[in-house]
Amino acid sequence: MLGAVEAQEPLGWAALHEVEQDYAGSRPGRRRCEFVAGRCALRKALRQLGWDGHEPLLPGPQGRPYVPPGFTGSLTHKDGVALAIASRSPAGATLGIDCEVIGDRERSGIARKVLLPAEFDRWQSGGSTWSALLETFSTKEAIYKALHPHVPRYIGFEEAEILANGEIQMRLVGGEGPFRMTRHLHWSGERLVVVVEAEFLGV
Ligand SMILES: CC(C)(COP(=O)(O)OP(=O)(O)OC[C@H]1O[C@@H](n2cnc3c(N)ncnc32)[C@H](O)[C@@H]1OP(=O)(O)O)[C@@H](O)C(=O)NCCC(=O)NCCS
Repeated sequence: MLGAVEAQEPLGWAALHEVEQDYAGSRPGRRRCEFVAGRCALRKALRQLGWDGHEPLLPGPQGRPYVPPGFTGSLTHKDGVALAIASRSPAGATLGIDCEVIGDRERSGIARKVLLPAEFDRWQSGGSTWSALLETFSTKEAIYKALHPHVPRYIGFEEAEILANGEIQMRLVGGEGPFRMTRHLHWSGERLVVVVEAEFLGV
């Protein structure tokens, strides 16, 4: 279930839990708008799935938003729009969402940081386009969000490889897993939305 909200603070303030309002109030300007819109979008997605709880959806110590037991959810905000995704998760599969916008400024300098050598070679032979780089970058950020409930630590960009066919191969340095990772990628004009699902395959 997807929740989308424009990042304009007054729009969603009343929909927030009072603890979320306190938290939002402690954040500076743009971050406050993003937080409010993100929480609205996440609440909307969870409500559409039948969640009737009242607990605040605050960030945990590493930034991951609290999601009620039995559900998975994730959120992103970019250029005035916040998106959240949620689903019921009886078997413990988890979701991560990320959004990027092509924009005026190409930041191809991030390629060396984000891409593994094989990904870098493929990107170069495909013409080194900003959109292709954004797809891999955004996929990796969505991977980080989807995996965080299972792997609650920083995950480096070199710990995931995106293959030519879009499959994801994890190379987690802590040996965590195995995980089945699935990616959904959607372009709407210049806006890219990536959703990743992570499923732990161990016992
Ligand atoms: C955390 C990170 C992924 C956020 O991405 P971003 O493009 O900067 O920002 P987005 O708007 O898309 O997402 C922000 C939201 O991510 C969520 N988030 C932050 N940390 C998170 C975590 N550890 N796990 C899950 N979700 C997290 C939060 O909901 C946050 O919004 P909020 O602060 O309003 O609650 C990014 O800043 C980062 O640290 N990346 C490095 C780690 C990485 O991507 N590794 C690649 C592994 S293959």
